[in-house]
Amino acid sequence: MHGEVTISGSKNAALPIMAATLLTGEPCVIHRVPNLSDTRFMARILESLGTQVKFERGTLTVRAQKIRGYGDYDLVRKMRGSICIMGPLLGRLRKARVSLPGGCIIGARPINLHLKGFAALGATIKIEGGYVDATARKLNGATMFLGGRAGSTVLGTANVMMAAALADGVTVIESAACEPEVVDLANFLCAMGAQISGAGSPTITVTGVAKLHGAEHEVIPDRIEAATYTIAAAATNGEITLKGARADHLRAVIDKLSEAGVSVEKRGANLVVRRKGKLKSADVTTLPYSGFPTDVQAQMTALFTLTPGISIITERIFESRFMHVSELARLGADIEIEGPSAIVKGGRLLSGAPVMASDLRASAALVIAGLAAKGTTQVNRIYHLDRGYERMDVKMRKLGARIQRIQEK
Ligand code: EPU
Repeated sequence: MHGEVTISGSKNAALPIMAATLLTGEPCVIHRVPNLSDTRFMARILESLGTQVKFERGTLTVRAQKIRGYGDYDLVRKMRGSICIMGPLLGRLRKARVSLPGGCIIGARPINLHLKGFAALGATIKIEGGYVDATARKLNGATMFLGGRAGSTVLGTANVMMAAALADGVTVIESAACEPEVVDLANFLCAMGAQISGAGSPTITVTGVAKLHGAEHEVIPDRIEAATYTIAAAATNGEITLKGARADHLRAVIDKLSEAGVSVEKRGANLVVRRKGKLKSADVTTLPYSGFPTDVQAQMTALFTLTPGISIITERIFESRFMHVSELARLGADIEIEGPSAIVKGGRLLSGAPVMASDLRASAALVIAGLAAKGTTQVNRIYHLDRGYERMDVKMRKLGARIQRIQEK
């Protein structure tokens, strides 16, 4: 793959920022919102709550003048990320009712930490008939510890930060998620008049204010999309330029790829990716930020199938995020699962086959492996891919990949 690709706005930053527009009746304008099925879906959820939404050429305008405190059961249930409407609804209306999100293919995905945070602010939580209800006559700032089984929680931190923005007094979130998406949300909230400090560190302090106002914001570039194209270039021995990707959000990925024989260099506002020679095996463990992201684990596994030697990939965030492994095996990859680790005996020539996408990042891994494999690979169920990658087929083709979208039968 050769050429330039422009990195889209971050899906996982855009979703909570979209939800945050519920915190004010004034119009909010958000730029660089990626056009994805997940963001379009979030726009529908906002509309179902009574807001007016306009989404045109990457700019989203939301006015949440008069809103309801409950989300449509089926809409909310269909997208896990929509749980982040709960914090703003609770903050603004003192009541929120959403369908309890279930687990998904990558793990159980509980929301106990979100609820623990709301309860600490004084909300009463009830789970009934598949709904979770949070109500409060008054929200009071509190000090809370939001660490869980796997460390911090990204959307849990976002949710509590949003509710606390309109609480009385000071909230301190300990063991807060440090992800750049949390920082982007905090920046948007501050532009709305919130008082937040410490975002990006494990201790976030929110001083509640009586009211928030409309604001304009530009979403950060998607570090996971950038990492995915970087790995695709490495897998195909290409040289590509990622326009707008931020090296400071990709330290762990760049460091691991360097160990694996891939150079990622900052050149002005861009990153340039090329191989340094032969690919080398390495070990990777996923961790909360600033560790190696779980959302890049599947793509990295695909790369290691092409890398001579043994690589061990350990997944510490989600308990069953290895669905791509059996599909990679269809292409001839030799991977064994041992507890939370995948042991990849790499360096074989992969051979194209029909495969099935199981989730968003697994789909990306299959595309990467398919690009490097001999022959043709057909990736089915690409609606998973469209949830989180803006026009991946078009962007990849521009980089020289032979990839085509075929109508699903
Ligand atoms: N967890 C709990 N209790 C909670 C919440 C989380 O035990 O109340 C556990 C989870 O089960 C998991 C760990 O904590 O083991 C981390 O989960 P987290 O809450 O951070 O995940 P999330 O906020 O629901 C976001 C991204 C995911 C990404 C994770 C981890 C969005 C919309 N989603 O999910 O993105 O994998 O953070 O970085 O921001 C993706 O884009 O493909 C994706 C799955």
